[in-house]
Amino acid sequence: MTTTELKRTHHCNQLNASDLDEKAILMGWVQTRRDHGGVIFVDLRDREGVTQVVFNPEFFPKVHQQAHIIRNEFVIGIKGKVLKRPEGMINKKLATGEIEVMAESLEIYNEASTPPFLIEEDTDASENIRLRYRFFDLRRPDMQQNIITRHKTGAVIRNFLNKNKYLDIETPFLTKSAPEGARDYLVPSRVNTGRFYALPQSPQLFKQVLMVAGFDKYYQIVKCFRDEDLRADRQPEFTQIDIEASFVDKEDIMELSEKMMKKIFEEVLNIKLRTPFKRLNYDEAILRYGLDKPDTRFGLELTDISDIMEQSGCKVFANAVKKGGIVKAVNVKNASFSRKDIEGFTEFVGVYNAKGLAWIKIKEGEKWQSPIAKFFTEQEIKKLSDKLDMQEQDIIFFVADKPKVVNEALGNLRNHLAEKLDLIDKNIYDFLWVTDFPMFEYDETEKSYKALHHPFTSPVKKDYDKLKTDSLSVKSEAYDLILNGSEIGGGSIRIHRKEIQKKVFEVLGIKEEEYKEKFDFLLKALEAGAPPHGGIAFGFDRLIMMLCGTTSIRDVIAFPKTQKAACLLTNAPADASKKQLEELFIKVKPHLK
Ligand code: AMO
Ligand code: AMP
Repeated sequence: MTTTELKRTHHCNQLNASDLDEKAILMGWVQTRRDHGGVIFVDLRDREGVTQVVFNPEFFPKVHQQAHIIRNEFVIGIKGKVLKRPEGMINKKLATGEIEVMAESLEIYNEASTPPFLIEEDTDASENIRLRYRFFDLRRPDMQQNIITRHKTGAVIRNFLNKNKYLDIETPFLTKSAPEGARDYLVPSRVNTGRFYALPQSPQLFKQVLMVAGFDKYYQIVKCFRDEDLRADRQPEFTQIDIEASFVDKEDIMELSEKMMKKIFEEVLNIKLRTPFKRLNYDEAILRYGLDKPDTRFGLELTDISDIMEQSGCKVFANAVKKGGIVKAVNVKNASFSRKDIEGFTEFVGVYNAKGLAWIKIKEGEKWQSPIAKFFTEQEIKKLSDKLDMQEQDIIFFVADKPKVVNEALGNLRNHLAEKLDLIDKNIYDFLWVTDFPMFEYDETEKSYKALHHPFTSPVKKDYDKLKTDSLSVKSEAYDLILNGSEIGGGSIRIHRKEIQKKVFEVLGIKEEEYKEKFDFLLKALEAGAPPHGGIAFGFDRLIMMLCGTTSIRDVIAFPKTQKAACLLTNAPADASKKQLEELFIKVKPHLK
């Protein structure tokens, strides 16, 4: 039989007891080959599943002979009859576990090199090896499932947005910087010597221009590019579900987002989410959790004790408050941490620039064991005990510093403690809107104001007059969607009037020449009859992580980059040839060694 004669009739998860005695042609990869004294069994795998194929020397000696050279991951096609497996060989866990196919003919399409790891679920191969041999890694069933879930989710989203009259409109990749707070990836232009495109950090300004152009409702599942430090949930190129609509307010976008999430979870996981989602304003999120993306699946809330500490004999704490800082604490109930654990936690908060981590253990008889106990009066001890609800067996951790440091340190410690103490119910999907963000924050190192979201976010109307006089108190029309402590989306109502946009640029210290140079097209668009508009963008990869229950973003992207932004499969980024560089008039400095 020649290759062209075999034509696949079934996939490898399809045949079952209802197909007995049927002829079937299957194609796929050899998962395993077992030689059982004469009879050879092959588990044949394709993307859908696995079917057992039998090569029996008694009935088909030639084909059996041929099957001897088969090894793992060879690509084969077989034709044969569907038979019931003998009692005792039935595998209830497999959809095809009741049958096997007795091969009458075999075509070996290709041999395969030996994979550097087994093609199986939960591999313990190192990630570098997996990324280098991604073609093998992507064959593993869990990776196949992740990528299929990604496809399915994309389809549900497109369907949902299409039904809601959103138009899928493409925007360019070779463009100018769209400031989302990261560095740009630059692409040199050959025809415009010495000039560069920036890859979009998001389609933000294009989608706003589309609203001015009257498209009313836009979406795109689109790649975004950000040259930033990478983490477990960050990639230099990632995908957004990008949405924008005209004549809407905050509530409209939040409602649309909730409906979309509901649809996704129902269709992909068969889970019915309860809406509306919980809401928390930014100030309260920071006060109680230290972070603007709080994980609210567990308690361990933070308490501000600056008022008690300001006058206390504990110099570190009192001085911090006097200098405009704060002191916050987290009470861990029924904890038993060793000195070594506590040293670990101290190191952990050090990453967020905390200068130390003070602690109090409450021993029997409510006695304090603590390096800082000696600094407090009876009265202060009483006040602290009450405010922090201290009881026997508790351990309380404290950080004193500038508010940003305290909140980041304790907010992240809170998450870390919850993981360590196993306080998180992993079966919950805990959605939370964070709203009422400040419009600006002050960047101490740059000595300037920065937009907390992006500079095109609208301040709330009632704060318009405070834009220049009291910038830090201005709230914005922004909202973030948090799922289990991860920011899966963020958006806002935009500025649609030129004079407000100019004022915001000015607060940000962007000079007129500069914003004219960078954003003239936006200002012109805002003059051209810009409707009120707003939108949101979801991190598609992060959403898929949640749906697949993975902890690494790289497990839901077919060809991701490493922490060093490299593609180990292709070895990108790579050197450019002399000719390429010459054409671009680019000279690469010798690497700094
Ligand atoms: P933002 O910058 O918040 O908003 O991005 C939206 C969402 O994209 C995801 N995300 C990322 N995912 C993976 N890797 C990254 N490096 C990465 N960076 C962001 C997050 C985030 O919530 N134009 C605005 C949206 C708008 O205002 O409509 C924007 O891009 O889940
Ligand atoms: P020291 O007086 O430096 O030995 O610190 C006494 C305790 O206070 C130690 O447990 C330190 O980790 C802790 N500590 C020092 N500075 C801070 C700070 N800024 N916030 C919280 N704890 C601190």
